[in-house]
Amino acid sequence: MYSLRSMACLVGSLLLCFFAVSCSWMRVEGSDSALPPLPADAEDYAPLAGFDAMLIPADNPMTAEKVALGRQLYYDSRLSGDGELSCYSCHLSDKGLSDGRPTAIGAFGKKLSRNAPSLWNIGFHWAYYWDGRASSLEKQAAAAWFGGNMGAKDRADEIVAVIGGLEGYDRQFQEVFGASATAENIPMALAAYMRTIIGGNTAFDRWQAGDASAVTDAAKRGYEVFTAAGCAECHGGVLFTDMTFHTVGVGWDPNQGTYADPGRFKVTGVEKDKGAFKTPSLRDVTDSGPYFHDGSISSLEMVVRFMAIGGVPGLPNADPKVKRNRLSDGEINDLMAFLKSLDEETNLSQAPERISR
Ligand code: HEC
Ligand code: HEC
Repeated sequence: MYSLRSMACLVGSLLLCFFAVSCSWMRVEGSDSALPPLPADAEDYAPLAGFDAMLIPADNPMTAEKVALGRQLYYDSRLSGDGELSCYSCHLSDKGLSDGRPTAIGAFGKKLSRNAPSLWNIGFHWAYYWDGRASSLEKQAAAAWFGGNMGAKDRADEIVAVIGGLEGYDRQFQEVFGASATAENIPMALAAYMRTIIGGNTAFDRWQAGDASAVTDAAKRGYEVFTAAGCAECHGGVLFTDMTFHTVGVGWDPNQGTYADPGRFKVTGVEKDKGAFKTPSLRDVTDSGPYFHDGSISSLEMVVRFMAIGGVPGLPNADPKVKRNRLSDGEINDLMAFLKSLDEETNLSQAPERISR
């Protein structure tokens, strides 16, 4: 799969990345080992070994200080309308950066219609949410904060004043933005932090980097099945997503004769996008159930079997790349072992110390 030369490069960059990461950790937060990688080089931020540099908006450059501020905010429940939820509440480390529910429950107990997606390597995406309606992480963070997830819309001024009124926060905002906290710079800091949520710390990645003993033989065979069955057409590469939109037949309502959730269609208005959703990354997928945009299937094996037989055949807009495979139980087991090798070992559960004044 890789030539010897690119393998050597990959191992080299992994090592480099490791050192760069440990240096920037020391620079910002001392020995907090739960921290994700911080930008070592703000100009050329390429935190994922073997992958392109991340595109950073010119008006929101990465700095270690901004990331630290964003992380502080990301874990802070004072941001939500009811003071109960932080961003982290629905993107939990032990739930594969999802929340373990079929569909999420926002601030004030508001029932939301979709499943909370995992966020590994989210900074590389170009369109956010299952339907891609947000075109930047800054816009997404503002939407999550003011919308149903965090429910802050009606109390935004008050919340900004509470955050900005804490000296510990104000010092950071002044340093990072040269200004007090605002409804605009809070999402900017959140976005900068999210760009450091980097997946890649898995047995699979160690195997690809040259450690033949990092994964089981079943996982190796499973990776072959994954490729042969066409899964990699959409879930391929280091990200395990093509970051684009496909209809695989989830959420079809036979009584209404339509997709319960129009998905991408709502953004583009193009008929063939009805029922299309963004391909989820498969990193940490064994932990991130229930699955699909509507959380309709809770067993990963059932999801894998559903995808392997080609979803629901004959539905409108069904993507022809979803192939009708006949896999044996052994091949399904191997696929499961491969997916297990994508368990992320980076732990984001440790919240930063709460700023109390
Ligand atoms: C109540 C649970 C909940 C909370 C709190 C929450 N989220 Fe989410 N998050 C979701 C759900 C559900 C979606 C998918 C919504 C959709 O696609 O329409 C989502 C989607 C996202 C996405 C897009 C992922 C992708 O694949 O495109 C990002 C990024 C994100 N959230 C970050 C945040 C941030 C930042 C905050 C805090 C400001 C936050 N979330 C708070 C549930 C939550
Ligand atoms: C045409 C592109 C495409 C192909 C091919 C494809 N998938 Fe998917 N996959 C998707 C999309 C899109 C979704 C989300 C569907 C939804 O929620 O409506 C998805 C969802 C999943 C999920 C659920 C992940 C989650 O977090 O909810 C798993 C697991 C999965 N696919 C595995 C596979 C496997 C295994 C194969 C091969 C047998 C495969 N996929 C083939 C596009 C594809």
